Amino acid sequence: ARTGGRPLSRILFSTEQIAERVREIGREITEAYPKDEELLVLGTLKGSFIFLSDVVREIARPMEVDFLIASSYGGGTVSTGEVSLLYDSSSVLTGKHVILVEDIVDSGTTLNRLLPQLRTHNPASLEVCALLHKHIARDLVLEPRWVGFDCPHDFVIGYGLDHSEYFRNLPFIGVIQP
Ligand code: PRP
Ligand code: MN
Ligand code: MG
Repeated sequence: ARTGGRPLSRILFSTEQIAERVREIGREITEAYPKDEELLVLGTLKGSFIFLSDVVREIARPMEVDFLIASSYGGGTVSTGEVSLLYDSSSVLTGKHVILVEDIVDSGTTLNRLLPQLRTHNPASLEVCALLHKHIARDLVLEPRWVGFDCPHDFVIGYGLDHSEYFRNLPFIGVIQP
């Protein structure tokens, strides 16, 4: 299939596979925290918007949702190493259980930049929930507590993940040729 003029080499995770894994993660998060303690699910835009919206509907307890915007890739396929925070969450983090939701952990640059900043707000706990993990990041300040799938060392798109802002709307995760 060709989408946006760029060849899609293969489907990595189907819509059904993702939905089943998202349900499992939602159940685990529901059971992980006492119901009478505050929970804030914090998504990193743009990539996490679909994963977050699906996973929060599988979390059966009171909770807040907020977002921040972090961008590292620009238009390219290789991380620039720079992470710009374009919008910071205004939510109170202090005393709350905070889950940072990412679509993918690639070089780890984004997490390593965001997590120390979030910690300065003294959340009751801070965990990461990532749909995909490439396991190539060295010196991650915190390993994700929840990972949807281990991800091969390819350029993956769909289900929120982009290449030059395209493909985010694909309902599955695929690989495009470099
Ligand atoms: C992508 C992805 C993660 C990050 C992972 O975001 O959504 O946030 O890169 O890569 P890293 O581990 O090497 O930091 P991107 O900067 O492309 O912005 P986007 O979410 O708007 O696509
Ligand atoms: Mn992102
Ligand atoms: Mg991107």
